[in-house]
Amino acid sequence: MTQDLEGTVALVTGANSGIGEATARALAGHGAAVALAARRKDRLDALAAAIEGEGGRVLAIEADVTDRDVAIAAVERTVDDLGRLDTVVNNAGVMLLGPIPDAPVEEWDRMVDLNVKGLLYVAHAALPHLSRAAEDGPRRVADLVNVSSVAGRRAAAGAGVYNATKFAVDAFTEALRQEVTASHVRISVVEPGAVATELASHVRQEVRDTMMRGLSDIERLEAEDIADAIAYIVTRDRRVAVNEILVRPSEQVR
Ligand SMILES: NC(=O)c1ccc[n+]([C@@H]2O[C@H](COP(=O)([O-])OP(=O)(O)OC[C@H]3O[C@@H](n4cnc5c(N)ncnc54)[C@H](OP(=O)(O)O)[C@@H]3O)[C@@H](O)[C@H]2O)c1
Repeated sequence: MTQDLEGTVALVTGANSGIGEATARALAGHGAAVALAARRKDRLDALAAAIEGEGGRVLAIEADVTDRDVAIAAVERTVDDLGRLDTVVNNAGVMLLGPIPDAPVEEWDRMVDLNVKGLLYVAHAALPHLSRAAEDGPRRVADLVNVSSVAGRRAAAGAGVYNATKFAVDAFTEALRQEVTASHVRISVVEPGAVATELASHVRQEVRDTMMRGLSDIERLEAEDIADAIAYIVTRDRRVAVNEILVRPSEQVR
């Protein structure tokens, strides 16, 4: 793999599993120093040790990004310990599917708090550092990649509040892109279809038994497929902004 991110620093939220873990490994493979943010400390430490074992430079940050102060502190700690911030992958998210009328509203709070508010907190705290990186960094460009979903493009019964959070991510991404792109801070969104990760394991069993049966019949994406898309975005030359990538399993219809 080429070391095209050598000298840069990346922060990946939700780095403990799935897409975040695969992305952290991919960016480290491209030569970036990587800060890993998530809640389960034991898993963070294990991933950090694995990346270090492959020659990467890494920082494990135990952080619940739904807490605004903690989200800000995760960004600041990345800059303090690794020296700068060139790339942010706003990936932490939760998908608690189910029909709206009988939903436990606590599930909605969890999705809005993480998928929307956590992502906003990290983005806002990171922006001054990304601007600096675009001015004086080795690549003279910086990246914020927000992980949305196919659910951010197309609403469906049973996914209403998850849809609402991911539509919010897409809208925020496009508005922020217009505000800062001229300064070479690129703002992008990645919209995966079904990926084989821990994400669906948090969905209530009765919802899984009814709504999600069809998805297990298709060959889902691997987390590495989405990490590839993210790595593609952040390794482009500074003149190229890949604003949006939608990646579905080839068998996924909607
Ligand atoms: N899998 C799919 O089919 C799919 C499709 C479209 C979009 N996506 C999106 O992809 C993103 C990653 O999901 P995934 O599929 O990789 O799921 P995952 O394996 O469940 O990963 C979620 C990650 O987020 C972390 N996390 C959860 N709550 C957090 C919090 N409050 N603060 C910080 N980190 C937190 C988790 O670690 P801890 O529990 O240790 O904190 C975990 O590392 C999400 O935004 C999801 O909506 C996934």
